[in-house]
Amino acid sequence: MSQEQIKDEETQFIWTRKHLLGLRDLSKEELLHIFETADGFSDLSQRTVKKAPVLRGKLVVNLFFEDSTRTRSSFSLAASRLSADVMEFTAKSSSISKGETLRDTARNLEAMGIDIVICRHSAGGAPHLLSESINACIVNAGDGYHEHPTQGLLDLYTIREMGRSFEGLKVAIVGDIAHSRVARSNIWALNKLGAKVFLVGPPTLMPSAASQLPVTICHDFDEILPELDVVNMLRIQFERIKSHAFPSVREYSRMFALTGKRMERAKSDLIVMHPGPINRGVEIESNVADGPNSTILRQVTNGVTIRMAVLYLVNQAAVAEREA
Ligand code: CP
Repeated sequence: MSQEQIKDEETQFIWTRKHLLGLRDLSKEELLHIFETADGFSDLSQRTVKKAPVLRGKLVVNLFFEDSTRTRSSFSLAASRLSADVMEFTAKSSSISKGETLRDTARNLEAMGIDIVICRHSAGGAPHLLSESINACIVNAGDGYHEHPTQGLLDLYTIREMGRSFEGLKVAIVGDIAHSRVARSNIWALNKLGAKVFLVGPPTLMPSAASQLPVTICHDFDEILPELDVVNMLRIQFERIKSHAFPSVREYSRMFALTGKRMERAKSDLIVMHPGPINRGVEIESNVADGPNSTILRQVTNGVTIRMAVLYLVNQAAVAEREA
C-alpha cells in the first residue's frame, strides 16, 4: 500500500482545494488535516534518502516578486523532497521589467506545462488573480498585507509540536501588525482552533480595521505578558511604513521588545516565536531569540514539512478535479 493510501485511510478526510490562498476560509477540520498530512512527511528530512516520489513529473514554479530567504528556499526544498522539478522565477531579472503583466507572465509560464505556482507579491490579492487566470494550482507565499498562509500553518504546527492544546491558549502577536500578513494568517487560524489572540503594539502599528478582527487589542506589553502562553514577535516593516509610527526605535524597543528582563515576568514555558527576518535588538534581544524558550529555528524546519503537505494536498485536489 502506498504512503498516500495509508494517509487517506487514516484521516478519512477528502481535501478539495487546489489553491491555498489564505487561512481565513479554511475550516478547523482542514487545518487539522494539513497538520496530520505534515506529520506523515515530518521524518522525510531525517532519512538517508530524503525523497518521496509524491510529485514526480510535476513542475513547481517559485514566482517571487518580493525578496525571501525562508519561504522561497523552503518551498524549493519541499518540492524537491517530493521529487518535483522546480523552476525559479525572479521578477527583477524577468520581462516584468519590460512591462509584462502578472497575468501574462503566469500564462506564458503555464504554456511551458507548470503544475503548481508559488506566488509572493507586494499586492494583496495577486495569488487570487492568478487562480482565476490559469489552471495550475496556486499557493500564496505572501501577498501584500493580506495573508501568508504557509507561515501561519508552520507557526501553528510548531505550537502543536510543543504539545500545547489550542483551546484557550493565549497567544500574543506583538509589533507591526498593520503591515503584517503573518499576523492575519495567524489570527484566522488560531481563532478557528480555539486560541485567544491578543494584538500588542502601539496604536499606530495596529490595522485600521482591528476592531473587526477576532482579537483583543493591548497597548501595554508588560501588563499582558505574565498571562501569555505564546508570543509571536514581529519585525517592524520599515520598508512599508510611510510616516513616523513611533518616536524612535529606542522608544519602541523600550515598550515592546522581548528582552531578557521582560522574560523574567513571563511564564517559564512561554513559547517565543518569530517568523523572521529578525531585527536583533529592536523587537527581540539576541539572548531571547537564541534562548531556551525560542522556537524560531524549529519554525523554519517545520516550514519545509508544512510546505510538503500543502504541495501534496493541492496536487491531490488537482488530480481529483481532472479525473472527475
Ligand atoms: N517568514 C518569511 O516569510 O521569511 P522570508 O521573507 O525570508 O520568506
